[in-house]
Amino acid sequence: MEKLAETKYDIHELLKGRWSPRAFSTRSVEPEKLFSLFEAARWSPSGGNSQPWSFVVTTSDQPEHEKLVEALAGFNKVWAKNVPVLILAVARPNPERPGSEAYAYYDLGQSVAHMSIQAEAVGLQVHQMGGFDRDQVRELFEIPESFKPLTVIAIGYSGRVEDLPEPLQEREVQTRTRKPLSEFVFGGHWDLPIEPTAEELLLAGSPDGK
Ligand SMILES: Cc1cc2nc3c(=O)[nH]c(=O)nc-3n(C[C@H](O)[C@H](O)[C@H](O)COP(=O)(O)O)c2cc1C
Repeated sequence: MEKLAETKYDIHELLKGRWSPRAFSTRSVEPEKLFSLFEAARWSPSGGNSQPWSFVVTTSDQPEHEKLVEALAGFNKVWAKNVPVLILAVARPNPERPGSEAYAYYDLGQSVAHMSIQAEAVGLQVHQMGGFDRDQVRELFEIPESFKPLTVIAIGYSGRVEDLPEPLQEREVQTRTRKPLSEFVFGGHWDLPIEPTAEELLLAGSPDGK
């Protein structure tokens, strides 16, 4: 299923096409494609090139996969159990640099953003989840205390909406919404919207600027 972003300004089709489905097929993911996602994550920027990310991968043929599903919260447990690949995304703040947590979280998120767009490029879908028991997964994968599990990421091919339980079917087909740019893009001063008016855009597009 497609749920293209409705944009006011043109953006790349991969950005437009990415969304977070809950209906996944059980079809397994080719290793070549899966590893292209990690390659994309690998080449994302990070503070001081610290690359503070790690990913623990489970596939549906492994007992750890089921255990990871058990650690998911509420509805996540329901829809994610059929997803062929689940990944735990882990940040590594530098213990020698107090305050580096924020950068590690920022960088991990950015690497997953790269991963999501690469997934879109190879026909895969991604759904990130913050709803899971962090202590349970720390224990499951024996993750040292200094590393922070942040999200579980579902990866696979698009599935059938009809296979989801009722309340999730409804959410699956809901329109995707976003705040307008004027609410978060400011010019030169906090809370001062900067977006050009339609008239200004027209003028900028005309050859003599008039
Ligand atoms: C950090 C993070 C945590 C999220 N946690 C969950 C979650 O636990 N369960 C879920 O169904 N979706 C989760 N989502 C998906 C968001 O709800 C989704 O990205 C948002 O509604 C925008 O929809 P879109 O990705 O389709 O554009 C999460 C997304 C992010 C980035």
